[in-house]
Amino acid sequence: MPNIVVVGTQWGDEGKGKVVDVITPHVNVVVRYQGGNNAGHTVVVGRDKYVLHSIPSGILHRGCRCVVGCGVVIDPGALIDEMESLVRRGVTLDGNLFISKNAHLIMPYHPALDRASEAKLGKRRIGTTGKGVGPAYVDKAARVGIRMVDLLNECLLREKLEVNVAQKNRILREIYDAQTFGVDEILNTYLRYAGWLAPYITDTALLLMKWIDSGYSVLFEGAQGTMLDIDHGTYPFITSSSTTAGGAATGTGVPPTRLDGVLGVSKAYTTRVGGGPFPTEMTGAVAEHIRARGNEYGATTGRPRRCGWFDAVVARYAVRINGLDTVALTKLDVLDQCETVKICTGYRYNGELLTDFPEDENVIAAAEPVYEEVSGWLAPTGGAKNEADLPAKARRYLERLEELIGAPFCLISTGAQREETILCEDSPLLRWFPSVRSSLF
Ligand code: GDP
Ligand code: IMO
Ligand code: MG
Repeated sequence: MPNIVVVGTQWGDEGKGKVVDVITPHVNVVVRYQGGNNAGHTVVVGRDKYVLHSIPSGILHRGCRCVVGCGVVIDPGALIDEMESLVRRGVTLDGNLFISKNAHLIMPYHPALDRASEAKLGKRRIGTTGKGVGPAYVDKAARVGIRMVDLLNECLLREKLEVNVAQKNRILREIYDAQTFGVDEILNTYLRYAGWLAPYITDTALLLMKWIDSGYSVLFEGAQGTMLDIDHGTYPFITSSSTTAGGAATGTGVPPTRLDGVLGVSKAYTTRVGGGPFPTEMTGAVAEHIRARGNEYGATTGRPRRCGWFDAVVARYAVRINGLDTVALTKLDVLDQCETVKICTGYRYNGELLTDFPEDENVIAAAEPVYEEVSGWLAPTGGAKNEADLPAKARRYLERLEELIGAPFCLISTGAQREETILCEDSPLLRWFPSVRSSLF
């Protein structure tokens, strides 16, 4: 049974939650491999809307095992709130949720450092979610991080906390003039969390390989998107983890040789939250229209998302960096009322035409998008059951995107509901999950 990685191809919020939820009935396990509760993955089921932050988007399907891998950073208080809110809504977690022993913890000083650092950056501020994700990864790389398994050993937890609190308090007080923390208070709170979370903490790398060896199929759910990757994104305006497909192996302990394919998720246009370059960004009435129609407000912070046209340079880059086999295109319906739709096919920089995404921050910031215009379809796409039902001009738009990015589409999403999903003809998904055909229709 295939093991497939799902990644965002843009700057996050592509609709990964919806796509993972739609594919989940065809797999046995969904695992998150990076990021933390900076993510906000929305799944809409009928009138119910769920926003998942740390728990995989497969959790709404009873029987699907959900794993939080070692590459994720966990705010245990926020995770418990998320678990309780799901349980209140009737979702089963016991026996379905497994948390890696090696996942690093977000400690109370991490959000404090995140916010204090942002406040000092001035116009170079990243616009983080303020959840402490970056500082938690800093500690992981600096080898002073505290891991899930440490919650189960009070002596070790105190020892690690004492070192960290002393160091962070100095930074907070002397560099940032900010509030400091006490060891005992954190220790007591985190020991309470430990009591709650202990039954879920396990060696998930071992578990995943046992499941894979016994024939289970695993979906790796990426958070954020390719352009926010710590190595391949628009550094320094990125998140602090490996959001791209390679992160699926290191962030779970499943070797790359056991990954069978990579599916990218892309919006029919582009959005970005926070600072940093965004070549196809729009302002004015069209941007407002797309923001309103697409409800483009952050699922985690509620901030308005910056909106822009589809950027084929970014999409091609995502195909290359992730080795995408296929792309699920979401939010086509949001463009239904646009008279003209633009596609960025390249960037103009210093009189030169660039068709490969430039890795230099200054070049990206100065790049002028080169657009191709297509006339809008001005007809609803929501409710279409197959590609043939879509307006001819919408079909042409999709064909042109596929041609430009060099990877075939597998799904077209025309609404937030599960049913508002079209399975493409010859969809690569059918090769991996033949049962998709009967479930989607
Ligand atoms: P994620 O972080 O990639 O999971 O994406 P988010 O959940 O942050 O943002 C995507 C938003 O678009 C959510 O509110 C989804 O419910 C919604 N959505 C997903 N697919 C579609 C679609 O095809 N059309 C519309 N109109 N909304 C969609
Ligand atoms: P999902 O998984 C969109 C952005 C923040 C900021 C940068 C760094 O829902 O797609 P961080 O808090 O991670 O240190 O912030 O990354 N960012 C996201 N943008 N979707 C997300 O997650 C994001 N997670 C982080 O806005 O620009
Ligand atoms: Mg999101």
